[in-house]
Amino acid sequence: MTEATPLLDVQGLGIRFGGLDAVKDVTAVIPAGQITAIIGPNGAGKSTFFNLISGFYQPTAGTIRFQGEDITRLRTHEVVARGIARTFQTTTIYRELSVLDNAMIGHRVRTRAGLWDALLRTGRERKDEAESRAGAMQALERVGLAGRAHLPAGALTQEGQKRVGIAMALSSDPKLLLLDEPAAGMNPEETVNLMALIRELVTGGLSVALVEHKMSLVMGLADQILVLHHGQKIAQGTPAQVSRDPAVVSAYLGSHAHGGQMGHGAAAGADAQGTGGEAGHA
Ligand SMILES: Nc1ncnc2c1ncn2[C@@H]1O[C@H](COP(=O)(O)OP(=O)(O)O)[C@@H](O)[C@H]1O
Ligand SMILES: [Mg+2]
Repeated sequence: MTEATPLLDVQGLGIRFGGLDAVKDVTAVIPAGQITAIIGPNGAGKSTFFNLISGFYQPTAGTIRFQGEDITRLRTHEVVARGIARTFQTTTIYRELSVLDNAMIGHRVRTRAGLWDALLRTGRERKDEAESRAGAMQALERVGLAGRAHLPAGALTQEGQKRVGIAMALSSDPKLLLLDEPAAGMNPEETVNLMALIRELVTGGLSVALVEHKMSLVMGLADQILVLHHGQKIAQGTPAQVSRDPAVVSAYLGSHAHGGQMGHGAAAGADAQGTGGEAGHA
C-alpha cells in the first residue's frame, strides 16, 4: 500500500431506486496496477456500482474521485475521457460487421456525447474516423485479435467475441477497465484464457476492476476483493482474508442460488448465469 493518491476513491456512495438502496454508503479504494474484484450474490448492487462509477447513473449520495479529480457528476463520455472504460454484462456485438468495425463503434459510442454525435459524419469527422480506427486497431492487438480484424465478428468463437467486447472498451485507451461478469457464458477453458488475458493487460500497466458473483472464480485472480451484499460493502481485503470473513460466508450461504461457491477451486464451473438488471448498452 502506498500513500499516493489512489486511482479510484469512492466515499459514501449510494443510489436509491424508489424505496430500494441498490448501493448504500460504499466507501472503497481501487488502487492502480491491480486487479480488484467486486463480488456478491445476485442483486447485491455490483452492476449498479459500475453504472455509478462510469456515469451511467447519477448517485444520490457520496463522491467518486479518479486520480484525485471529483468525477461524481460527469457524464459517461466525460468519464471515458478521464480514463475509465467498461464492458457490459451483455455486450452487443454486431455479428455481420467486421471485428475492426465493432471495435471502432465501441470507440465512438464511448467517446461521443450521444448517438447522433457518434453517427453524424461531417468533414471534421474524418480525423475522428482515423483516430477511432487507430484506437480500435491497438485495442485489437492488446486482446490478440489483430489478425482477425477483417473477419465478421459473428465468425469468432464465444471467447473471441468476449475479446471483441473488451477491445471495444480498450479502444479509448483507459487507465481503469471495469469488466462486468466477463466470464459469463464461458466454459472453464475459455475462462482460464480470459483470466490470462486480464493478467496480461494488468502486467502491461492497466488497472482492472471486475464484477463477479462467483467467489471461486476470482480467488486466484484478484489482488483485492470487495464484497457487496444488499448494496453495502461487507468486506474488503485479499482473497484469503475475504474468504475467511464470517460476514462474507454467511452472505453467500444465505444466498440459496450460490451456496457452496466458497471453495478455492480455480476457474472451473464458469456457468455464470445472467443476472439481468443491466441498464442496456451504451
Ligand atoms: N435502473 C434500475 N431501476 C430500479 N432498480 C434497479 C435498477 N438497476 C438496478 N436495480 C436494482 O438494484 C439492485 C442491484 O442490482 P444490480 O446492481 O444489477 O445487482 P448485481 O449486479 O449485483 O446482480 C437490484 O435489486 C436491482 O433490481
Ligand atoms: Mg450484475
